[in-house]
Amino acid sequence: MKICRSIQSLHGELSAPACGRGRIGFVPTMGFLHQGHLSLVRCCREENDLTVVSIFVNPAQFGPAEDLQRYPCDPEKDIVLLEKENTDILFMPDNSEMYPQPYRTYVNVEGLDTMLCGQTRPGHFRGVATVVLKLFNLVCPAWAYFGQKDAQQAIVIRQMVRDLHLPVQIRVMAIVRDSDGLALSSRNVYLSPAERQAALLLPKSLQKAAALIGSGVAESQVIRESMQKELDRDPLLATEYISIVRLQDLQEIPAIEAGNTLIAAAVRAGRIRLIDNLLLGDLSC
Ligand code: PAJ
Repeated sequence: MKICRSIQSLHGELSAPACGRGRIGFVPTMGFLHQGHLSLVRCCREENDLTVVSIFVNPAQFGPAEDLQRYPCDPEKDIVLLEKENTDILFMPDNSEMYPQPYRTYVNVEGLDTMLCGQTRPGHFRGVATVVLKLFNLVCPAWAYFGQKDAQQAIVIRQMVRDLHLPVQIRVMAIVRDSDGLALSSRNVYLSPAERQAALLLPKSLQKAAALIGSGVAESQVIRESMQKELDRDPLLATEYISIVRLQDLQEIPAIEAGNTLIAAAVRAGRIRLIDNLLLGDLSC
């Protein structure tokens, strides 16, 4: 695996004869890798000739009161994990490489960035869209891989790709969970045992929603109330939102639409914010 810390060395590697012909697949990450990230890398390996992974903790997507300084990192371990997955190129730029000063250009995916997580994380999706577009421009992938775990992020990226005619296909992969059901997340390391126990109510609430839908219930309010009841079982959890929305525009819908609905929730367990979702449809494009 080649490790590139500068744009110049990335371009050098991508233009090397060994990389010259063949399809480039790309997995952008912020590091502290877990099996969720690695599932994307594996799929990328299978579907492309060259696999590029990036690790960059993007300051533009963190709010001033958020955990940029505390975001977990372990680059040595990440390198070992990516070597094991036969990653071809790891791009690990620093801030000055990605945001040379003065920096002035940002991407707004209007209307999708203020819903769901955007309500409490203003500017987050602007930061995500901006860095992903920059990374796409640097790596020039044919295919890029994202996780359904961050469904709104995938929807924002998909819209940006359409709107800007970007020559990249987006693949959205299933949520990888721990054996107890909690969706893997780099931030889970900060949960105390009691918070982690409480956090399990989040996937459980979505299982409840799935069971209701399986039994024929379609009304959003009924599903939302059942989820809220589940989340309320532990006072350590504070619900931020439970949303039942249409995939294209993230607008709340009164009843689920088969093949076109996202049920998404965000909670706080202590200082840690957790998200999870149930997808009735497909986000790849
Ligand atoms: P990060 O949180 O590191 O996640 C990188 C990718 O891994 C994202 O596409 C995310 O959805 C996916 N992922 C995370 N947890 C997952 C899980 N449990 N199962 C499956 N996939 C999972 O998302 C980001 O970084 C950043 O916003 C980024 C896109 C890199 C832009 O900075």
